[in-house]
Amino acid sequence: MSFFPYRDGRMYVEDMALDDLAEAVGTPFYVYSSAAMIAAYDRFAGALADALAGRAKPLVCYALKANPNLAVVRTLAARGAGADVVSEGELRRALAAGIPPEKIVFAGVGKTRSEIAFAIEQGIHQFNAEGLPELDTIDAVAREQGVVAPIALRINPDVDARTHHKITTGRAENKFGIAVDQVPRALERLRGLPNVTLKGLAVHIGSQVFELSPFRDAFTRLAELYRELQAQGWPLERLDLGGGLGIAYHDEPPPDVEAYARVVAKTVGDLGAELAFEPGRHIVGNAGLLVARTLYVKHGESRSFLVVDAAMNDLIRPTLYDAWHDIAPVRAPAPDAPTRRFDVVGPVCETGDTFASDRALPEVQAGDLLAFFSAGAYGATMSSTYNSRRPAPEVLVSGANHAVVRVRPSHEELMAQERVPDWLQAPSP
Ligand code: LLP
Repeated sequence: MSFFPYRDGRMYVEDMALDDLAEAVGTPFYVYSSAAMIAAYDRFAGALADALAGRAKPLVCYALKANPNLAVVRTLAARGAGADVVSEGELRRALAAGIPPEKIVFAGVGKTRSEIAFAIEQGIHQFNAEGLPELDTIDAVAREQGVVAPIALRINPDVDARTHHKITTGRAENKFGIAVDQVPRALERLRGLPNVTLKGLAVHIGSQVFELSPFRDAFTRLAELYRELQAQGWPLERLDLGGGLGIAYHDEPPPDVEAYARVVAKTVGDLGAELAFEPGRHIVGNAGLLVARTLYVKHGESRSFLVVDAAMNDLIRPTLYDAWHDIAPVRAPAPDAPTRRFDVVGPVCETGDTFASDRALPEVQAGDLLAFFSAGAYGATMSSTYNSRRPAPEVLVSGANHAVVRVRPSHEELMAQERVPDWLQAPSP
């Protein structure tokens, strides 16, 4: 079922017509379907619960980095989601959105002392520790607060997730986690650190992972290690299996979440461990669109360009990862309408500001609205103000209701964050 259907020639988000929304909030803007993210969350959590059949209770910690908008996080919190956070900012957002601290895991290779202190004060579920020196810091901060901090060791399983090299994280050469060979040293270190307690192991091999075999390999290695440590007397009780399950960006068959859940059940289901997951993209990626208006249709010497009012500052994924996003007109094209090849580009002064090259699209006129699909994850949150462009607002739709859940700041608001020192005189006229 599509959450973005055409009805009477107009594209809708649930029961809200996108052209009406464009009139109301102006372009470009992001729009999210509540029903789509709830459906993805329920399917993910449900598949795991079914596959594990009571052997282990899954805790789904939504990875805020994919889309940290408070209304999005609140929507998932209401379904019972926990949170995976990687900064104090994300932790504060998760708490503000109503996620209880005991459902929050704190990952990331560069946690600062003050972030660790804040997280300990809040009583989070666990830190996923990424290296030996970090263990010392967590221990020291916990000692200052007179508490014992729960941790999981993030293991780098040296598995190739077969995804884009910029978002693969589980190879030996990546900066993440602790190599299996270094685990004995980490355990030795932990023996001397009374203010951290080892609760379990964690892994995250990468993002937009499409094949299940890398997950199978990583989870199998983790299960072996878990058993080994338990046999040595470490009272482990938790496994955090990370996120990374991909989504379809075009018409490829998406990874099968039920099959993923079966891999989980088969590899770690019998350990008796509490299981946590950190999905981001899989929950929100296909729940969001970026909507832009066509400013100009420009027929160059060798190519035709659609210049739209969104740019790489709004959606960086095509520029950064050569990512594909489907693009479709908001006004439905006639079924037999001819297509033409366009480069879809933004107004920013860089050639990389290209959303699509040589893309077949129905004939588009200046003024037409275009929807960029699969923009719910790593879209708005990775936006910037490059070229002094104002960040696009974000809109949440539920049925026929809509709410602007992040407003477009004014130019004055953006400039208000800057200061000109007194010693710089205003230029004389
Ligand atoms: N857990 C950890 C430790 C992570 O590093 C990440 C993503 C996740 C969970 C969530 O992964 P997901 O389920 O969303 O794949 N900006 C890139 C993606 C970067 C992902 C970084 N880490 C993109 O636009 O494709």
